[in-house]
Amino acid sequence: MVSSTTKYSLSLRKRSFSFVRRHSWLPLAATLLSAGLFIAALGLRSPRLWVMAAGILLAITSYVYGYSARALKYVNAPMLEQFHRRQYEKVWDSLAASSWQARWAASGEAAEAGLQRSAARAVSNILDLAKIGAGDDVLEIGCGVGRIGSELAPRCRFWTGVDISGNMLAVARTRLAKLQNVRLVKLDRAGLHPFEAHSFDVAYSTNVFDHLDKTDRWLYIREALRVLREGGRLFIDNTDLESDAGWNAFANGAGAFDDKERPPYTPTPATAAEYMTYARRAGFQQIQVHKRPSLLILTASKFTG
Ligand SMILES: C[S@@+](CC[C@H](N)C(=O)[O-])C[C@H]1O[C@@H](n2cnc3c(N)ncnc32)[C@H](O)[C@@H]1O
Repeated sequence: MVSSTTKYSLSLRKRSFSFVRRHSWLPLAATLLSAGLFIAALGLRSPRLWVMAAGILLAITSYVYGYSARALKYVNAPMLEQFHRRQYEKVWDSLAASSWQARWAASGEAAEAGLQRSAARAVSNILDLAKIGAGDDVLEIGCGVGRIGSELAPRCRFWTGVDISGNMLAVARTRLAKLQNVRLVKLDRAGLHPFEAHSFDVAYSTNVFDHLDKTDRWLYIREALRVLREGGRLFIDNTDLESDAGWNAFANGAGAFDDKERPPYTPTPATAAEYMTYARRAGFQQIQVHKRPSLLILTASKFTG
């Protein structure tokens, strides 16, 4: 049973959140104002009590500002009900309408430090399972703002990031500007048509296939086989429907939109069997599915001889 104190605190949180959402400028304005008061109190050599009061006010308003900035970044994803899932370019350009939104849509983190931190898990999975080496030419499918590319480019010979969203790539271009061995390529449709066969040693994709229609999952895996060199490695992750987190995401979504379409970017968990089938049908060998918390990871190699 929920106690009345808990109920009160939940309702207070809900009301504060909705207030801050309606007046998102207020916490920043209050922080600036109290910073001004604090500086004035110090500068005018006001009584110690006043300075302390202004300091406490500044601490409180800064805390509220930080809290609201964090809370507000979760409410910015538009529904985009006017698009269907396969209108990838329109959907992802809309989600990446500004640099801030692009970072958030790619990783759930808008600040640079958080973005870099959030890459650690995927980078470690890719290094562990795709065994990227210093001599490898590497392709990332759906590179977004270059969150993973900025970590992996320094570890390979040449890194190529492709994406269907020009807005995402614009942010990636700025973020990766200092790296010499990097190329960003805009796709005008799903597929790897800009690339010739046998161009890469590793093709990987993380945090992308969840958002694709099943037929495009298959299409990219078939295309990956074409662009990989003999012995080339494939790495793809997807939320695992058989994990508790994957199942909960799927089941909770079931009743969430009544008779409306889900947002076209809604992640769709998958099973190992689906990915094993695509890889086998494409002609990959050494096919494996690894289970990591909430994720399934397909790895496979190309041997045609
Ligand atoms: C959630 S973001 C992940 C970005 C990046 N992989 C990362 O982990 O930081 C998904 C990315 O996939 C891209 N994307 C969506 N559909 C695509 C498609 N059909 N082909 C290529 N990229 C696509 C989006 O533009 C977006 O940059």
